[in-house]
Amino acid sequence: MMKLGVCYYPEHWPEDTWEKDAAHMRELGLSVVRVGEFAWSRLEPSRGNFQFDWLHRALDVLHAHKLQVVLGTPTATPPKWLIDEHPSILAVDEHGQTRGFGSRRHYCFSSKIYREECSRIVTRIASEFGSHPSLIAWQTDNEYGCHSTIASYSEDATHQFRHWCRQRYDNIDALNTAWGNVFWSMEYRSFDEVDLPCGAVTELNPAHRLAFWRFSSDQVASFNRLQTDILRQYSPGCDLLHNYMGNFTEFDHYTTAADLDIATWDNYPLGFLDRDGTDLQDQQKWFRTGHPDSSTFHHDLYRGVGRGRMWIIEQQPGPVNWAPHNPAPLDGMVRLWGLEALAHHAEVMSWFRWRQLPYAQEQMHTGLLRADSSEDTAADEIRQLVKDMEVIQQHIPTNVQRESSVAIVFDYSGDHMCRIQPQGNNFEPLQWVLAVYGAIRQCGVNVDIVSTQADLNAYQFVVLANSVSISQSLINSLHKTDATVLIGPRSGSKSEEFSIPDALPPGPLQQLIPLRVVRTESLPDFAELQTGTRSLSAHRWREQIESDITPQSTFDDGWGFSYAHGRFHYLNCCLKPDSLKTYIKDKLITSGIGVMNCDDGLRVSHYGPLTFAFNYGPETATLPDDKKYIIGSASISAGNAAVFLNDSRPS
Ligand code: GAL
Repeated sequence: MMKLGVCYYPEHWPEDTWEKDAAHMRELGLSVVRVGEFAWSRLEPSRGNFQFDWLHRALDVLHAHKLQVVLGTPTATPPKWLIDEHPSILAVDEHGQTRGFGSRRHYCFSSKIYREECSRIVTRIASEFGSHPSLIAWQTDNEYGCHSTIASYSEDATHQFRHWCRQRYDNIDALNTAWGNVFWSMEYRSFDEVDLPCGAVTELNPAHRLAFWRFSSDQVASFNRLQTDILRQYSPGCDLLHNYMGNFTEFDHYTTAADLDIATWDNYPLGFLDRDGTDLQDQQKWFRTGHPDSSTFHHDLYRGVGRGRMWIIEQQPGPVNWAPHNPAPLDGMVRLWGLEALAHHAEVMSWFRWRQLPYAQEQMHTGLLRADSSEDTAADEIRQLVKDMEVIQQHIPTNVQRESSVAIVFDYSGDHMCRIQPQGNNFEPLQWVLAVYGAIRQCGVNVDIVSTQADLNAYQFVVLANSVSISQSLINSLHKTDATVLIGPRSGSKSEEFSIPDALPPGPLQQLIPLRVVRTESLPDFAELQTGTRSLSAHRWREQIESDITPQSTFDDGWGFSYAHGRFHYLNCCLKPDSLKTYIKDKLITSGIGVMNCDDGLRVSHYGPLTFAFNYGPETATLPDDKKYIIGSASISAGNAAVFLNDSRPS
């Protein structure tokens, strides 16, 4: 059963409050506490002056109250003395501006000096606390990439990038050919001439940008590995995790995750909605609930990244401080988001943060307690959640396995390729994947999100939603599975080095479905195109296909719409949400998958013998009334949830 937890910063509070806090956490039903991830200036106030006693005492207090601890390495916040000693640690932005001290994440992943400093502090902390009896896991750093910190344009990064290019391409002619540098006389004579992609007059070569993205992503992975190697040595048996972010694709998470045991992520449903380019209509609809597909999309994505193991280490408890606007969640949402995390197989769900801090940058960010230690509104919902979980526990076997007949293949490099050259301002690659995910979820179906390397045999329906460049291993897995495969627009449209494939898109996917994309167009928001008989509406992106296959129907202007060859289907446009739902539903039914119609704000998740239903919508939602409800009833009010036994009749 999922455990509940909280992020706690003992260094922010007088020591005589720790006992009371720990007892209060237990009383609320919490059992996991994350500490320490920003505490470098208190653990080592000056070089070599290690102050570990306070953290020992804090961990002892938590342990005495049977709270289990996740300890963060403090490397997201190199302290002032260290930066003053070695200013070259600082990252540099694309305009050549050094990113200064005074907040956090001010380091460059390529700084050799910083890597040595990280090894030093992580070794000291791991050897000091690695066998503390409260410890169950380590978190490396904090949110790699937060505040746009993956790419750095420092001297160290330039040097490392040249080295990376040398390793990848071996000789400069190969690099010139791979990137197409003959265009605009961009050819280099040696690797020492290769600069970072910034500061050019107009658009940079997309292949150069892609190489830099791959390099930066690899830098994150090796930086993380430096820490995991040490932690495994000094703290054997503890799980290792990192807290990833929502709506964030700036590095390949699968690569980093290979060195970790669990993928955790930080869920701020209202903050994401306002900050991350959701359209205004959706923002209006969901501003107190978050988008109904946002949390679960990430749960499913990170469960895949974590090879089946996923936590939410930070969960929004109330208004946050960092979005353009910071509304309070609708009553009930704190509980609802908790139940939803459980239904999507989170092992732990932990709120950020225990108590609102009255000073510094995040003073307007709510916690479970107000700054005066009185309980904020989330606390009551947590008590209810704990009661719900007790009921649920009585109805589930100990090792509930995730069951899902649908997989979306998620490719971080494909996402990035579309960002590098969107070919249409309104084509937002992650929003497109979310739209596909949402359309499937509105059919009441569980979805797994998997990497391009995943075994696809267990699925009945597989979607390629952002696989821009296709590897032969993916083709092989698609051959091997019996699943119906839906290939989305832009799939296979680029080679690994960002050029148009020789045989035209969808490139290697032509081994599965014989067609060629002969023209693409991107469309402004006001343009909407209708397809023939079913009258589906396309927007934003469309492809003209040449093939012997007869399309499913045609657009008004004669371009074909949607092609099928055996179990392989090709969708050659972006469909508007309602049309996408109709289209996907058809395909699910064709694949033999049972669908349940969920309207706008209703979502269901299947968990072992139970079905969970969540109502994000403003109106009361209605569920089948011939089921036995263990939580709630067939009629769910806004912000509420219900759980029923799948094979049941009301008693
Ligand atoms: C996260 C971060 C936390 C805290 C939180 C506030 O992105 O990991 O340290 O800043 O946001 O919502």
